[in-house]
Amino acid sequence: MSKVAVVTGSNKGIGYAIVRGLCKKFDGDVFLTARDEGRGKNAVAELNKEGLNPKFHQLDIEDKESVERLAQFMKAEYGGVDILVNNAGFAFKNAATEPVAVQAEVTVDINYFGTLNVINAMMPILKPGARMVNVSSIVSQWTLTKSSPELREKMLASKTIEDVTQIMRDFVSAAKDGSLEQKGYTSSSYGNSKVGISLLTPILQAAVADGVLVNACCPGYVDTDMSSHKGHKTIDQGADTPLYLALLPPNSQQPKGAFVSEQKVVDWTAPSQGW
Ligand SMILES: NC(=O)c1ccc[n+]([C@@H]2O[C@H](COP(=O)([O-])OP(=O)(O)OC[C@H]3O[C@@H](n4cnc5c(N)ncnc54)[C@H](OP(=O)(O)O)[C@@H]3O)[C@@H](O)[C@H]2O)c1
Repeated sequence: MSKVAVVTGSNKGIGYAIVRGLCKKFDGDVFLTARDEGRGKNAVAELNKEGLNPKFHQLDIEDKESVERLAQFMKAEYGGVDILVNNAGFAFKNAATEPVAVQAEVTVDINYFGTLNVINAMMPILKPGARMVNVSSIVSQWTLTKSSPELREKMLASKTIEDVTQIMRDFVSAAKDGSLEQKGYTSSSYGNSKVGISLLTPILQAAVADGVLVNACCPGYVDTDMSSHKGHKTIDQGADTPLYLALLPPNSQQPKGAFVSEQKVVDWTAPSQGW
């Protein structure tokens, strides 16, 4: 069966550039996915103009049925998945007026629980030697640094997916009942959701078969809708590290369960003064 790569949230931004890079460098079919079919198909048409031919599949990472349809399709057509890039993500703007409780729930639902939906459906069908790339952010390091020492210790002691999920649930509850500070959380919904992704990555690595590599990364500060086009990197520059991880050659031993920035492993659990 042919090889296949799937990129979540790839109708625009960094995901779109990851699809572009995979179309050029990966010896297999590349799926551009989007929650909105129209936006997804338009993106495919744009890449067609460059002579690139990604395939399209609808995928809303928050919709378990949509996720399950994609997983069933991949299993039936390709016998599983060779590359999975969990890129889809969301951030409220700094000027957003939604209450913290709303921002926390919406952001964690997409960035953490949505990504986890995809992971849960795809883990059982990862092919031997598969690569999983979880697009996190250096903001997860800043958020960990600013969390209380007790909470930081608890976060870093996470050993199972359920441990991380509980931390995400506690964050949302604390945002709702006004106890974020008391429980040691920063108010950054985006940062906390990405802490979840950075924590999950080594746990997932420990759960996959030998030869499969799971890594998290930060793409850098990229000129996309999410950054209100303030990022200094182009989307192709932002796609560089995710592509490096997605295309780690067969039999690579490293990076493995790591957090990677600019193609280098970074200890995201070390204190860092980002804000
Ligand atoms: N830009 C940066 O500077 C930066 C820095 C660090 C990390 N990141 C991370 O990089 C990733 C890509 O960000 P970006 O800057 O390229 O953002 P973007 O331009 O806003 O693109 C986000 C993509 O995610 C999709 N998405 C959102 N919710 C979804 C859902 N429920 N199901 C499926 N797709 C969904 C969006 O689809 P719609 O078009 O339908 O909304 C869009 O395709 C994110 O995980 C982000 O957190 C970005």
